[in-house]
Amino acid sequence: MAGNGRKVLLSGMQPTGMLHLGNYEGALKNWVRLQNSGQYEIYYCIVDWHALTTAYEDPSELEERIYQIAADYIAAGLDPEKVTLFVQSDVKQHAELHLLLSMIVPIPWLERVPSYKEKVETLGLDSYGFLGYPLLQTADIIIYRADAVPVGKDQLPHLELAREIVRRFNYFYGDVFPEPDALLSEAPFIPGTDNRKMSKSYDNHICMGDPPDRIQKRVMSYYTDETKIYRGDAGHPDTCPVFALLKIYAPEETEKIKSECESGSRNWGCVKCKKLLAEMLVEKFASFRKKREELLADREQLRRILRDGAEKARARAEETMKIVRRAMKMWNAG
Ligand code: TRP
Repeated sequence: MAGNGRKVLLSGMQPTGMLHLGNYEGALKNWVRLQNSGQYEIYYCIVDWHALTTAYEDPSELEERIYQIAADYIAAGLDPEKVTLFVQSDVKQHAELHLLLSMIVPIPWLERVPSYKEKVETLGLDSYGFLGYPLLQTADIIIYRADAVPVGKDQLPHLELAREIVRRFNYFYGDVFPEPDALLSEAPFIPGTDNRKMSKSYDNHICMGDPPDRIQKRVMSYYTDETKIYRGDAGHPDTCPVFALLKIYAPEETEKIKSECESGSRNWGCVKCKKLLAEMLVEKFASFRKKREELLADREQLRRILRDGAEKARARAEETMKIVRRAMKMWNAG
């Protein structure tokens, strides 16, 4: 635990560019809530080295994506005065710890991580750095001696690995790191336009920062109930992605819509649902869009925010590395 007895949290996101509704409802909203609870000392990291484990051939967009994601974070309510917001590659200590950890981690521990097996099979990826992805993630977390990591369920195997590595490290070199817990939050399923999970890689996403006409177009392209072809046909809202989103963004309307849809009322069809959803999204994120545009118009200020964040992060990371170097009897560790 850090000063004031507050628990330390760390989480990270890859700089994939503009964030979408799935990122927001699944993670960012919770990050803002944790910040506002005032209960934690928090580090939020933009993990640009992780982005290179897959997109190494053409890194030309990386810098722009970092600006975009930083603007999204702040526009969504993260306050750089309350949390430490920084870019991973600004804190070289992560790389040093990753290297030292790589000495003690058996390769099979990394090979059995589900996301590794899956991606090697589907994308044919097999670089040294990619195998080490969850090890770098472990370094990100434990270098702040984090007590907990707010993540989605998909990250549980990575966290379990981090805990195993901590136990192994502490066994060899003494009690240096706490075992980080996952801090899971309830997140609704956010379907994309094709009714699969919303994801950039499926190109089925809507970004909060999208201009209104793009939001409209995307919403109009949503998959809806295949059995509801004509307006008078009865629909099945419980399996409809547009309805799933209306439950979040137009909660007062959903009861009425559900009964109209299920009864096959001629007064209400899929187009009306989509129009309502588009309207609600455009309105809900109007101030968000304005804020992110202002932020992106002043790159110097964003740079300054991230530089200040990196400075704070570095102080704690270096403090940990001093302990690690001593524990591992490194040359000149003092
Ligand atoms: N693997 C995480 C993801 O895909 C990103 C990440 C990297 C991360 N380092 C982290 C998450 C440290 C939490 C803590 O979302």
